[in-house]
Amino acid sequence: MTSQQPPRIIRGLDELRQITRAWKRAGETIGVVPTMGALHDGHLSLARAARKSCDRVIVTIFVNPKQFNNPEDLANYPRTEVEDARKLTPVGVDVVWVPGGEQMYPSDFTTNVSVSGLTDVMEGAHRPGHFDGVATVVAKLFLQTAADQAFFGEKDFQQLMIVTRMARDLDIDIEVIGCPTVREETGLAMSSRNLLLSDHAMMKAATLHEVMTDTVEALVGGAEFSTLQGVAMTRLRAADFTEVEYFEIRAHDDFTLLTAPTRPARLFAAAWLAGVRLIDNIEVPVKG
Ligand code: PAJ
Repeated sequence: MTSQQPPRIIRGLDELRQITRAWKRAGETIGVVPTMGALHDGHLSLARAARKSCDRVIVTIFVNPKQFNNPEDLANYPRTEVEDARKLTPVGVDVVWVPGGEQMYPSDFTTNVSVSGLTDVMEGAHRPGHFDGVATVVAKLFLQTAADQAFFGEKDFQQLMIVTRMARDLDIDIEVIGCPTVREETGLAMSSRNLLLSDHAMMKAATLHEVMTDTVEALVGGAEFSTLQGVAMTRLRAADFTEVEYFEIRAHDDFTLLTAPTRPARLFAAAWLAGVRLIDNIEVPVKG
């Protein structure tokens, strides 16, 4: 297909399966990009990576109620479906899979996919039930789309590791590929939730990434992490952040808490600004 054709919007599983079976019969590979819509350049970078790597691309849009631990957050989550389809046209996406709530979770739905260990910390600790919701819906999306490759953002690094483990543990024949975080010019990680911030709050929000990069730089220069953590809290409060849920260094593979980057690690943070919860993470170079 040409890159100018709008994607087909599919809402029924039978129709989706007819399409994917035909692609498979023709020997074509399928890439899937799971999203909750309100698409921004971060999502589009995943769709472009899929376009580059696979013959066919499916972007999924489903605001998954099971992964919201806060009903207000679910109600406020931005929904911009028409605009989303328009943004995907120049990328050359074949299908947008938009399952309905009843399609995903019929009233007698009783299965739960739960990944242990990796889900105990950070987002898992602060958002009870969140990762069960993510693992369950992503398992369904992998099986529904029969994709060969799935593209996830490092923006949600913990999620990326959890869905990779889930697919491996359940023998789902799919390769999970992590893609770099796309940022605003200010350094703020793009996020659908940024739509809920005023222009003024957007400027303040950039402080999170600034503080994180300064912390990693100072750490590499030999400073103690506990001292840097204190400095970070002060700077975030001064930028009107109301609560910092975590600001910590963890090993990138099993999320062991570290005080110094003695093995490959990332700095992870979650903080509230103007009633919006922001998360980010960046690589910490290994010492020595
Ligand atoms: P959503 O927040 O819409 O994100 C969809 C995908 O886009 C995720 O893989 C996420 O990591 C990636 N993404 C978000 N912001 C990004 C950025 N700034 N740069 C690069 N990638 C970015 O994550 C979810 O939806 C849901 O949990 C989902 C996996 C769809 C399951 O419901």
